[in-house]
Amino acid sequence: MNTLDAIKARRSVRGFTDRQISDADLETILFAGGQAAVGGADFKSMKLYAVQDPELLKSIDEASAKRRPGSHPLYGAPTLVVLASKESILPGIELTNAGCVIENMMLAATDLGIDSIYLWMSMYGINGDPDIIEKIGFPEGFTCVGTMALGYAAKEFPKHRADEQRIEVAYVR
Ligand SMILES: Cc1cc2nc3c(=O)[nH]c(=O)nc-3n(C[C@H](O)[C@H](O)[C@H](O)COP(=O)(O)O)c2cc1C
Repeated sequence: MNTLDAIKARRSVRGFTDRQISDADLETILFAGGQAAVGGADFKSMKLYAVQDPELLKSIDEASAKRRPGSHPLYGAPTLVVLASKESILPGIELTNAGCVIENMMLAATDLGIDSIYLWMSMYGINGDPDIIEKIGFPEGFTCVGTMALGYAAKEFPKHRADEQRIEVAYVR
């Protein structure tokens, strides 16, 4: 798949089967994350965790549902990639770095035929629960700055109109 095709095909999926992704695919996706543009090339300010422990995923799902009781913010995904960061050498850039890292990983997943979704809700769940942070293993000074669920869609999800420009554009010439 070329890059533009992957960009067009990526879609947020909100419902996953139990089928786990392969370790080889997971490694490729995490590698793509590490190839992202990062401010000041401060790669050491970040850490990537691949969470696949069902009990821990359940705890994160529950902790993340506090704002919407009864919801399942992880959508049943069998893998949650958690990006943690300490303060960067460029303070304040951490969430922007996260966007670049996670977008790279979502596009790599699309290329491999794996479904994904960027999840903000689970970031609140993780950062609000010291027990979860300890279980994931963040070093001192690190907080979650973004997460991404991975797996296979439980049902056909609506394809977006890939040729539609969704952000208003102005040409200033
Ligand atoms: C930073 C960020 C955080 C997001 N967090 C959530 C989330 O917590 N839950 C969710 O269902 N979707 C989340 N999304 C997905 C967006 O809702 C989705 O990208 C948007 O609706 C556009 O749809 P598309 O990704 O299918 O093109 C998030 C997206 C971004 C970029």
